[in-house]
Amino acid sequence: MAKSVRKAGFEALGKLKKSMEGQPMRLLFAEDPNRFQRFSASGADILLDYSKNRIDEDVMAALFDLARAAGVEERRTQMCEGEHINITENRAVMHMALRYQGDRPVDVDGKNVMPDVRSVLTAIESYSNAVRNGDIRGHGGEQITDVVNIGIGGSDLGPVMVTLALAPYTRPDLRAHYVSNVDGAHIHDTLKGLDPAKTLFIIASKTFTTDETMTNAHSARKWLAGALGEDAVPNHFAAVSTNIEACAKFGIREDRIFGFWDWVGGRYSVWSAIGLPVAMAVGYDNFAKFLAGADAMDRHFLESPLEKNLPVIMGLLGVWYRNAWGFSTHAVLPYDQRLSRFPAYLQQQDMESNGKSVTLSGKSVGWSTGPIVWGEPGTNGQHAFYQLIHQGTDVIPCDFLIAAQPHESLPPHHDKLVANVLAQSEALMLGKTEDEVVAELKEQGLDKAKIKELAPHKVFPGNRPSNTLFYKQLTPEILGSLVALYEHKVFVQGVIWNVNSYDQWGVELGKQLAKALLPKVQGEEGGEGHDSSTQGLLKFYRANKG
Ligand code: F6P
Repeated sequence: MAKSVRKAGFEALGKLKKSMEGQPMRLLFAEDPNRFQRFSASGADILLDYSKNRIDEDVMAALFDLARAAGVEERRTQMCEGEHINITENRAVMHMALRYQGDRPVDVDGKNVMPDVRSVLTAIESYSNAVRNGDIRGHGGEQITDVVNIGIGGSDLGPVMVTLALAPYTRPDLRAHYVSNVDGAHIHDTLKGLDPAKTLFIIASKTFTTDETMTNAHSARKWLAGALGEDAVPNHFAAVSTNIEACAKFGIREDRIFGFWDWVGGRYSVWSAIGLPVAMAVGYDNFAKFLAGADAMDRHFLESPLEKNLPVIMGLLGVWYRNAWGFSTHAVLPYDQRLSRFPAYLQQQDMESNGKSVTLSGKSVGWSTGPIVWGEPGTNGQHAFYQLIHQGTDVIPCDFLIAAQPHESLPPHHDKLVANVLAQSEALMLGKTEDEVVAELKEQGLDKAKIKELAPHKVFPGNRPSNTLFYKQLTPEILGSLVALYEHKVFVQGVIWNVNSYDQWGVELGKQLAKALLPKVQGEEGGEGHDSSTQGLLKFYRANKG
């Protein structure tokens, strides 16, 4: 039944796609001076301009119909009510509780979780404040100047992204560093130049079993104990995990273990104690504002009609391009250097959530699901890969992000940044026709033969879709709203594609095989039982490892 609703919806979209093929956006803009008003919306102080998309009222109506038929509103209610919508792990999906600003109880499995959520936040507040103001110091009484977070995936990407984004709120005398990769180069290069007496480690791992994190944690411990002695360890380590027992076993003091819960997915955990390094870097008050911004977007998502709902609109546009047009990638292009890790963060959020090919009931999906998400900040990308976005054979829907106000007073930088982002979405939409190219070349005085030779190379197909997200300034509140916006977008798409957006079984096989291969890599066992490629590579490694 559910499948036929979706199939019917995708078929309707397919028909609308055919009619949209004959209506380039430049024509739609020329015909309708109100197109921007018609196809823009705001929520939580963010303006979404989605007018530069291959849409008209009929397309949007069909998309909203699909959202309703697929049960987006019902699933949203189920999520809020703590139902176990993560069915393969039998868990509720309650990251919204972590940033909830109201005073109503939030029940998960019959228990109001808000007292626990707030008590962990209070613990983070007092610990981060004490480190920042020097009440809590290193073993020898030195003030902490460097906080090193050791985690990977959701225990790394969120805090890294947020710390960079909120750089104007950081202090030069308290630096946050992030180590994630099991590649020893990462921890080596991070610790090089740090003073153990002034360094605090946060071991962040939901499970406290992730191999990369535990390997790095043990190396960090060795580095610290080697310099200051075993006794110093408790004063230089804290932990964030749902696995309190394993943290204690590692030797972390009970009052330096900050918990969270299995109803928070790793990639949705930046709002939990996983945000501890952020609170250290930007101060708890700013971290609290980040949570409040996310809550503002939650209210918008939960309370606005679908037709005015930013995450719903963005999710549906993604479905339109993925399922009716077959576009397989989606670019996120922040015109904000401090959002340089935002695309990487969204890669986990989106691709680990919706990179699935079976439905909730375990059947093969009959449609495309999550796109490949990628991006880099503008204007750098303009001088690298935008060529392909403008003239390549693939159409890549883009999200542009830009603030009206920079944090620095450095005219004319920001006006130039804004001019560039506006130029890109305009160029993608308009393109440049052959007639326009020929006229331009004529004006430049080129002869007929040269014009004929050059013109095809200078034509831009145009009609390339983009959204623009505009906000006043990249404050902690706005950042929280932006991240929550994308979380809910992913939720909407997961419901429409009928997948479980909250598990990640696809990461397991590689982990299992790496475990089995380690003794063979270390030469303790032979390579039998593996395919000839793996055996050949093992042989090469052993011969060259030195
Ligand atoms: O391997 C994928 C994953 O499980 C992510 O979902 C998670 O964010 C990451 O590993 C880290 O997990 P943990 O926080 O348990 O160390």
